[in-house]
Amino acid sequence: MKEMMRPMQLGGKEIIFGEGTLQHLSVIPAQRVTIVIGGSSVKKNGTLDAITAILKQRQVPWNLIEGIDDEPLWSQVCQGADLMHAFLPDLIVAVGGGSVMDGAKAMWVVYEHPELTELSQIVSAKPFPVLRTKARMCCIPTTSGTASEVSRSVVITDDESGMKQGIGNMEMMPDYAICDPVLTLSMPPHITASTGMDALTHAVEAYVSKRANIVADVLAEAAITMIVKWLPVAFENGDNMEARENMLVASMIAGMSFTNVSLGITHSFSHTLGGHFHLPHGLLNAIILPYVIDFNRQDPEAAKRYDKLAQLCSADDFAQLVRDLNQRLGIQARLHELIPDKERFDSLNRMMSDMTKADGCTKTNPIIPSVEAIGVLLEQMY
Ligand SMILES: [Fe+2]
Repeated sequence: MKEMMRPMQLGGKEIIFGEGTLQHLSVIPAQRVTIVIGGSSVKKNGTLDAITAILKQRQVPWNLIEGIDDEPLWSQVCQGADLMHAFLPDLIVAVGGGSVMDGAKAMWVVYEHPELTELSQIVSAKPFPVLRTKARMCCIPTTSGTASEVSRSVVITDDESGMKQGIGNMEMMPDYAICDPVLTLSMPPHITASTGMDALTHAVEAYVSKRANIVADVLAEAAITMIVKWLPVAFENGDNMEARENMLVASMIAGMSFTNVSLGITHSFSHTLGGHFHLPHGLLNAIILPYVIDFNRQDPEAAKRYDKLAQLCSADDFAQLVRDLNQRLGIQARLHELIPDKERFDSLNRMMSDMTKADGCTKTNPIIPSVEAIGVLLEQMY
């Protein structure tokens, strides 16, 4: 029997997008604001100044949590939550890529619930802890890919094992998403490429998900055609505002799609490989996606859907379209180009196959592969 549809949620309280929309921060209710950022780029490129200028004009006190890693650690989440406890914000503003937004969302959970002292407590919490008794969350993406600003999920790395834990619950849907393409202009080409391919992977995996529905399909189709058209332009000319704006919106609507219908084994592989080899999430997705498309074509319904996507993009074969796009973006065709130690890769095959099989995204892949089939796929993509 077909699984009953799950209720959809396309965003939090408000989403706003387009050039100059950062100014919307001037009207979001706030008494005290904690700003969460990653590295120094938002300081250097003036984004942080623009945000603090708005808060200063409102006479809203703020504090800053900085240095969130590319792969936010649970210990960083706890440190951030401690700083929030000391400052008591009623609005958290996360400014950065997916890691910063994910880290801030996780800090928010611990800030609201200081009794949660272990990552495993959040992973297994049932029901999920109620948020918004202390603060609301505003996400301002500076990359066009993860869509954490409209997603219910976070990925946090366990300090001891180094493994990534995905946690998903609609409670973590940010209340406000501000998608201002001006903030993405300074993204270097290789980040534009990898984050853009993450967004494409979200839309493609949502489109063939076992939970796919008509509304998620419409969003995914739009995101895919926009990304195929605009990602090469944004990659080749980072100053092109039209390309930046289309990529940020495409990433957001891909997020609205996948956060409701989930993903597939491209993400399962990339979570596993990212945990072991610490390579960028979007880059791994980009390399893995065409292999997964070819594998999933064994399912006739999925094959039909990939063909529909190819047709929408005026291509013959969708996997080939992804390979061509990767080549244009300077992305490797196989994993061995990033992971030269073949012996280590081979020795981890069984363990990585088990982890990929157990990943939460595998459940909604059009085909549930055996551990053996996953092992063969790993060899192929290497
Ligand atoms: Fe992703």
